[in-house]
Amino acid sequence: MEDIIEEIMRLKKERKAIILAHVYQPEEIQEIADFSGDSFGLSQKAAATDAEVIVFCGVRFMAETANILSPDKVTLLPAVDAGCQMFTDAITGEVRKARAEHPDALIVSYVNTPASVKAMSDICCTSSNAAAVVASLPRDKEVIFVPDANLGAWAEEQCGRKLLKWQGGCPIHGNLTVEEIQAAKARYPQALVLMHPECRAELCALADYVGSTSGIIKFAETNPADEFIIATEEGVMYELTERCPQKKFHLASRRLLCVNMKKTTLEKVRDALLTMEPQVVVPEDIRLKSVAALERMLAIKGETSCNVI
Ligand code: 13P
Ligand code: SF4
Repeated sequence: MEDIIEEIMRLKKERKAIILAHVYQPEEIQEIADFSGDSFGLSQKAAATDAEVIVFCGVRFMAETANILSPDKVTLLPAVDAGCQMFTDAITGEVRKARAEHPDALIVSYVNTPASVKAMSDICCTSSNAAAVVASLPRDKEVIFVPDANLGAWAEEQCGRKLLKWQGGCPIHGNLTVEEIQAAKARYPQALVLMHPECRAELCALADYVGSTSGIIKFAETNPADEFIIATEEGVMYELTERCPQKKFHLASRRLLCVNMKKTTLEKVRDALLTMEPQVVVPEDIRLKSVAALERMLAIKGETSCNVI
C-alpha cells in the first residue's frame, strides 16, 4: 500500500494534479486527498484550484460539476462506473417535460443530477444550501425542485414555502427507518442525532441537527456533547473520529453504505494519474447552459461553506 501511495504522490506532482475526495469515500482515499469535504465544498475547490488536473474521488455527477466549473483542467474520475442511485437516465426527459408543462416555473436542481438537467435549471443547490437557495427565489414564482423529494421537503419546511417536488430520492438515506433511529436512541440515550436531509421528514423530526455532511462534522466538532448518532453514509465516521478523537460516534444503521462511493481504490487513483483516463468531459453546449446554474448557487451563502481538511 505504501508503494502505491508513494507512486500516487509522485505522479500527482508530475501531473500538477489535485486530489479531491467526498467524505463518503473509503478511508484510505480520504487519507491521501488534498481536500475532502461535502459536495458544496468540493465544487468550490474545483472552481478555484490552479492545478492542471483534478482527480475526483467521488461519483460521476461530482466530477461533471468539476468539469463544468473548470473546463480548462483535465478531470479524472478513477471509479468510472460510480454513479448516484438518486436518478436514472430518464430524468433528463422528465425534467424537460416538467419544464414544458410549467414554462414560468423556476427549476432548482440538486447537484445530484446529470449535467443535462443542470443545463435546464435556473439554479443548483447542495444539501448544505438548499434552503438558502430556495429562500433566494422570488416568492411569486412557482418552483420545481428535482430530484430529491426529501431534501425538497426539508427546504420547504425551512423556508415556509411550497415546492413542486420531483419524487426521487437516495435509496441509502431514504430507506433509513424510524425504528432504526428509535433503537439507536434507546441504546445510546445521551447521544445527539445528526442527520442528512436526504432522510425522510418523519426521521428528520427526530434529529437534533439536520444538515449536509460538512454541517454534521462541524456540529459534532463545535457542540459540547460528546456522543452522537450519525444518520448519513458511513464514510463520514472517518473525518468525525479524526477531528474529534475524544468523542463517541454511533452509525444509526449498518445499511448506511453507498456502494458507488466505495468504488474508488488506491490502484484506480494511481492508474488514472498514469494513463490520464478515465476523463470526464461535459459536452460544451451542455456545459455552457449548466455553468450559470452552478455559479448562481456558488454565489449564495448556505448553512455551511467549504469544509476542506
Ligand atoms: P453532501 O451534500 O453532504 O455532500 O451529500 C451528497 C450526497 O450524495 C449525499 O448522499
Ligand atoms: Fe447518491 Fe445516495 Fe450515494 Fe449520495 S449516498 S451518492 S445520494 S446514492
